[in-house]
Parts: sequence; structure tokens; C-alpha cells
Amino acid sequence: MQSRIRNEQLKEKIMNPMEACKLIKDGMVIGTSGFTPSGYPKVVPLALADRVKSSKEKMKLTLYSGASLGPEVDGAWAEAGIIAKRLPYQTNKQLRNDINCGKVEYLDMHLSHTSQYLNYGILPRVDIAIVEAIAITEEGNIIPTSAVGNSPSFIKNASKIIVEISSKQPVELEGMSDIYMLENPPMRTHIPIKNPGDRIGTPFIVCDKEKIAAVVFSDLEDHVRDLAPISDVDRAISKNIINFLEKEVALKRLTKNLLPLQSGVGNVANAVLSGLCDSSFENLVCYTEVIQDAMLELMQCGKIKKASACSISPSPRGLKLFRDNIDFFKDKIVLRPLEISNSPEMARKLGVIAMNTAIEVDIYGNVNSTHIMGSKIMNGIGGSGDFARNAYITIFSTSSIAKCGKISSIVPMVSHVDHTEHDTMIIVTEQGVADLRGLSPKEKAKLIIENCVHPDFKEQMRDYFKRACEVCHRCHTPHILNEALSWHARFLETGTMKK
Ligand code: COA
Repeated sequence: MQSRIRNEQLKEKIMNPMEACKLIKDGMVIGTSGFTPSGYPKVVPLALADRVKSSKEKMKLTLYSGASLGPEVDGAWAEAGIIAKRLPYQTNKQLRNDINCGKVEYLDMHLSHTSQYLNYGILPRVDIAIVEAIAITEEGNIIPTSAVGNSPSFIKNASKIIVEISSKQPVELEGMSDIYMLENPPMRTHIPIKNPGDRIGTPFIVCDKEKIAAVVFSDLEDHVRDLAPISDVDRAISKNIINFLEKEVALKRLTKNLLPLQSGVGNVANAVLSGLCDSSFENLVCYTEVIQDAMLELMQCGKIKKASACSISPSPRGLKLFRDNIDFFKDKIVLRPLEISNSPEMARKLGVIAMNTAIEVDIYGNVNSTHIMGSKIMNGIGGSGDFARNAYITIFSTSSIAKCGKISSIVPMVSHVDHTEHDTMIIVTEQGVADLRGLSPKEKAKLIIENCVHPDFKEQMRDYFKRACEVCHRCHTPHILNEALSWHARFLETGTMKK
């Protein structure tokens, strides 16, 4: 492990996690590596949580990351009551509960904005960056592990840096990252990527070695999570998306190679992608945020040639596939900083096909990806907005019903808006597809109701829309305001949206 620290001077900074976490003081801002349960620091956060739990000392921190983190940070720190404020994304159950009961302040933001907010001083500076690494180079530069996320910005902005050298992450990951940093406007120039596989930067994160205050060794593995088995509903959604794309090819608006694919997170997103294995598309490329199992499988079966992302975040099964075939995947995957993987410039320039998941969609095409019943955060907007606003085709999919049919995922008016009707183009449920491009609000509503609403809610929705049009027949976007959110209110009062 010592040989992974290629700078002799930095070997003097080796310490155990308990000593390293003494650098962290109450009130500090901590920025960590990691993006989803991938590439995040583990032993130092765990040591701090243990210390605070046993000492009962006051410790309230602001925690920045690329996206969600594994349980060794978000879970352990929430349990120890350490997190005062969190951004830009989370998925941990305990942390989510703490946010939803007001114990933790949460800033749910477009992931591509974090670096820019930091670089302009809109967000407070990072006091300590804790970064998981494969190795430190002779010059003191840091070689990231399975996620790049916001590490380059945190390392640049931090006063001090703690490096966790991981013995569990394979050394072969060295060379997969491509670090390219953006200047602030007006000095910012275009990103010179023409194809998703292009490399434009360095395989390490440039770091001022004087800022490295501690180096610790970690033998903890990324705490990757299982994906739910693919359901019939997921399969039907996937089939509907593939049929839609096939029609676009038939209409000569796309070729058989499609355009670079972006795929969101979660079970539905993974299922949608895995359906491509049996499709007629070939030589596909991805310009996305996270590489989940299905993308690895599509590479293995030769459908996907190259993928650009900022993190590899598979299930335990996908991780095994990746590790067993790392030489195969190595030249097919490029890991980039978040502000490059999620750059609006790139999504627009490459003409990405963005496929993300909604919690609910309304009859006019507005999408809620983040809040249950308008008030309780689920995860966050993540990168969905970065891609959805700028893609060539923006697809949102959802099962037409949730909670065993008590909830219709298509509602008269969404209870929270993440993606507006101006950005969403294609809405897909297991019932069918609504292509909203070129349609007025009333045309959109008719199509969504007829093609996407579950049969159990269709009459109720037709009735709402008909009455809204009668009450407001000359309106551009007809609504009955005191009824538009009554479906949610009814669910909260009676346990079902059904009348
Ligand atoms: N009303 C209430 N609850 C709903 C719902 C609705 N209309 N639709 C889904 N849910 C609940 C499900 O019941 C489930 O609850 P549970 O955890 O208690 O079982 C939960 O939401 C997740 O739903 P699921 O169907 O399993 O979806 P998923 O795992 O595919 O996740 C999102 C869906 C929207 C939560 C997830 O994709 C997400 O966080 N997206 C935002 C970030 C994003 O898109 N990032 C990608 C950018 S690259």
C-alpha cells in the first residue's frame, strides 16, 4: 500500500483514521469524493461518527458531495447527528427522514451547478476534502477510484485534504478518469469533446500537495446496492421507449446508432436500458452520469461501444462483472468531473437522448421527480434537469400507478415541479407513449390521458379535463384550481386517489 503513495514526503502524513478525523472540527464544511455508493471515503467518516457517538461532543457539519454517498457517510453521520446541512443529493433512508422532519437542512440542486456555486463563492468554501484514491502521484496529484464526481472542485477549493487510499479498489482503475476543469466565465471556453469517448484531460486530479494533511489506508469496499428485479411494468415501459425510438429511426429522425444515451438512476431506469439488449439498435454510445448494470451488460453484448460518465455504480452483481472484466471495460469507459459529464453544453452539442424517471407527471407534461405528495423529499433532482433541459429528446417514464394502485402517477397537476412542460417531450408509462413535441397544452393533455393513464383512473381523469375545459373553455391551460391538487389531498385523507 505504501507504494501507492508515490511521493516520499507524503508518506510522513500517513496516519490512522482516528488521528485523521481530529482535523475535522465543529462547524466545518466537508466535501467528499463519491457519486452514489461509489468512490466515497469510508474509514475516516466512520471513525468520526464513532468518536462523536461515544464522546457526545458538539459536531455539526455541512456536507457536500457529488451525489448520494454510501452508508458509511450519509447513514453513519445522520445516525450520529453530525449533518447540519447537506447538498446536492442524497438517497439514504435515515438522512431522508431527518430532512423530512426538519433536523437537517437540504439543498436539492442541479448537480452541474455545485462546482460553479463553489468557484464563485456562492457556497461556503470547503474546509476539508476527504477523497478516496487509488494512488497519489510523485507530484502529489490524486488518482480517483470509481467516481470522479465533484472531487476536482473540492480538492481545488479545500483548505486541507484527507486522502483515503483504498486497497479494495482495483489499480486498473488508473487511467479511466479524464480530468478537465472549467474556468469561470468570461474565461470559459467550449469543452473540446466531439465524441463521448474522447479524452481531453489528465488521468489524475491536480492537487497542491502542501494541502494534503493526512493519508489513511482503507480496506472497505463500496457499499453497492442490489437493484430490484425487473418487473412486467418495467419491461412494458422499456418496450414502449424502444418502440418510440424505432419509429424515430423509421421516420429518419434518428439512425440505428441513435444519439448518445443518458439514463437516469433507479430500478426503472436500469430496466429501460436493459431492454435495449434485444433491440435492433447497434454501435450505441452513452453520455451519461452513472453507469449502472444494464450499461455494462450492453457493452458486454457489443451494443454499446463507449460510455462517458462520472461514476460506475453497479449492483453487487454488476460490480463483479466489471471487476472480472476490467481490461475489457477500461478503454470503453471514461470517467469525468461532474460539471463535464452533466454539462448542458455537452448535452445540447451531442444531441443526447435523456431518459429519466418521474415520480408523477401531470396532464400538461410537468414532471415531479423529487417530492412525495408535494412536501416530502425522496432523493433529489440529481442530474435529470441538467440533461432534460438540454437534450435532443427528453423522455420521462413512470409506472402509471404507485402504492398498489392507490396512487395515479398521472395527476391533474403535479404537487411539485422539477421539469416543466417546456422541457419534457416524451412521457412513457407501461400503458403507452405520449409524444408531446409540437403540441399545445390541450393537445398534450388529451394524448397523455388517452395513452398514459392507468385504466382505473382514466374516466376520473377524462372527467376532470372535460370539466376544466368547460369551466375555462377559452383558457390556454384549463384547470379547476380548487380541484387540481384534490387527488393528492384525497390520498392523504383516505389512503387512495380514487373517487
Ligand atoms: N406517488 C407517491 N410515491 C411514489 C409515486 C407516486 N406517484 N411513484 C413512485 N413512488 C414511490 C414508490 O412507491 C417507491 O416507494 P418506496 O421506496 O416506499 O417503495 C419510490 O417512490 C421509488 O419508486 P420506484 O418505482 O421504485 O422508482 P425508482 O427506483 O426507479 O426511482 C425516482 C424513481 C424518481 C425516485 C428516481 O429515479 C429519482 O430519484 N430520480 C431523480 C433523480 C434523477 O433522475 N437522477 C438521474 C439523473 S442522471
